Formats: sequence, C-alpha cells, structure tokens
Amino acid sequence: MPTVPSLAAPDLIQRPRRLRATTAMRDLAAETDLTPSRLLQPLFVVPGTGVKRPIGTLRGQFHVSVDRLDEVVEPLARAGIAGLVVFGLPRAGTKDERGSGADDPDGAVARAVRALKAAFPQLLVATDVCLDAYTSHGHCGLVEGERILNDETLPRLASMAQVHADAGADIVAPSDMMDGRVAAIRTALDAAGHADTAILSYAVKYASSMYQPFREAEESVPAFGDRRSYQMDPRNGREALREAALDAAEGADLLMVKPAGPYLDVLAAVARASDRPVLAYQVSGEYAMLAAAAEAGLLDWDRALLEAAIGIRRAGAAGILTYACLDLVRILGG
Ligand code: PBG
Repeated sequence: MPTVPSLAAPDLIQRPRRLRATTAMRDLAAETDLTPSRLLQPLFVVPGTGVKRPIGTLRGQFHVSVDRLDEVVEPLARAGIAGLVVFGLPRAGTKDERGSGADDPDGAVARAVRALKAAFPQLLVATDVCLDAYTSHGHCGLVEGERILNDETLPRLASMAQVHADAGADIVAPSDMMDGRVAAIRTALDAAGHADTAILSYAVKYASSMYQPFREAEESVPAFGDRRSYQMDPRNGREALREAALDAAEGADLLMVKPAGPYLDVLAAVARASDRPVLAYQVSGEYAMLAAAAEAGLLDWDRALLEAAIGIRRAGAAGILTYACLDLVRILGG
C-alpha cells in the first residue's frame, strides 16, 4: 500500500519550472500566441509604372507601382496574413497647400485598392488617411502660417476616406490626429453608402522620434516645425484613455496605439479600458533598430523580431502592423 504523505509536510519549494520542461508543456502553458492572422503589412504604392524600388531606410520594403503590386503582395497573401495597410505617394510635382492628391480617385492608393481587391480578395485592405504625403508643407492637416487648422482639415480627410472606400477599401485608417476626424469620416462614409467600411483610428499616436525612417520613405518630413501640436506627448499615459474613448464614441471600430514597443504600458491600459479591438503599430524606427542591431551582429534577427511581436501581443494587441510580416510568418513556421 502506498504511503500517503503527511499533509503537515508540504513541499515548500514551488516549481514553476515543471511547466517549462518540454516544448509541448511550454506550448500548452503559453498565455500568448501569434498567428499570421494577427499581422498587417504596410505597403508603399507610388504613381507611374514599372517601379519596384527598395526603400533604403526600411530593410526588405519597396516603393511599388500598381502594375507590379503582385510581386510584393503574392508572398504576403501566400503567408496568410490578415491584410495590408496602403500608403501612397502623389505624382511628382503635385504636392500643394491643401494636399489635392489625397482624394484623387485615380491616385496610386485608389488604383492600388481596386487592383488588390480584385487580385487578392482574401486580404483585408486598409488605407492610410492623412494629408502629410500630399501637402507641400508635409503636415498632416491644413495650415495657416505655422498653425494647424484642425476643423478645416476634417472635410479633406473625409473626402480622402470616401475615395478609398469607393475604391473598395475594407478599412480606412486615419493617422492624422486631428480632433473629430472619426465622426467626420463616419458621417461621410455612411452618406456615401459605405456603412460597412470600418474605421481603424490611430487614436493614440505619440510625437515620436521613431517615425524617421518612414518619413523618408513617405517623403513627408515636415517643412517647418514638428507634429507636437497634434500628436501625443510621450510623457502622458492617461491621456491615451481619453483619446481612445473619444474615438470609440465617434464610431471607431478598431483603435491603434503607435509606436508599440516603447508604449506597451499604454497599449495594455487602452486594451483593458476599451471595448474595441486594439491594434499596435511596430513603427519604422522600431523595425530599423532591430535591423541595424542584427546587421551589426549584436542581436539574432529572428529571435529579436519574434520577441518584440510577442511582447506587443502580450500587452493586449489584437493585431500588429509590422514591416516584418514575411519574416515573422517564416519564423512561426508558415
Ligand atoms: C502619418 C503616419 C506616420 C506613420 C504612419 N502614418 C508618420 C508621421 O506621423 O510622421 C509612421 C509609421 C512608421 O514610422 O512606420 N501619415
């Protein structure tokens, strides 16, 4: 007969390591997972034809014209990611004060959306809604002197969103940080018969140093000043809850926190407080830091990428915008 140990003599050494002994045990016990269905890939489309040009500041990323989109998107579709976020550049020499190219129905973004929805119906297509790539001054809104004209910008953003929805975008994603733009866009979309087009609001977007590689890719470095009068102050976390609540009340379907890595506390707080799915953008500077460190032999690219992405998921992100989609799917074994 087995002897029953005395209840009075428990093993006082607790052993969490029991759950780490084998891969199967670790996988069973893991709190966080990452699948391709959680990933969205930013895509930079340009006017013209025959263009597929590597972006110097962003490893593995291209400026691509609509006729060559397939070359870039085919592998992403095969990888089974959720979808794309399309950023566009206007035709050379067309940047002006009001960002006229932003709502051009024949612009690179609208044409890209039509082509993508036809060729890759399984991919979600989101579009960036912001004037910065289209304005001569490079700001996200209209300006008077050096002042941002918040309310005057709203109809421009609504018009841009409508052009993208007309082209077939599943999601429009305002990244400009003007107050009230979610309501303006929702109203315009509904009036134009696009009640089913979702809004992914960059509700929580910090005035960050980490957009620099992207701004070179988007040619949107502000001609004067910076974006601190409309993007958030990195010292503030509670303000993020207010921004998220306002955008949700205005009709945002999904919320975004950006950048991701340095703001995981904010991401976690917003994800807990909000009843909307929260996505996070691992921005160009976060990606470039990892790439530079890996190139210098200081970090293992695959392990660092996976760790950064898992950290973002663990903090509460439903999905991740990242330039590393293809690498991540490969690392995940897809
Ligand atoms: C604004 C916008 C920016 C990014 C996405 N949308 C840059 C900015 O605010 O200057 C940055 C993304 C990245 O750094 O990867 N249209």
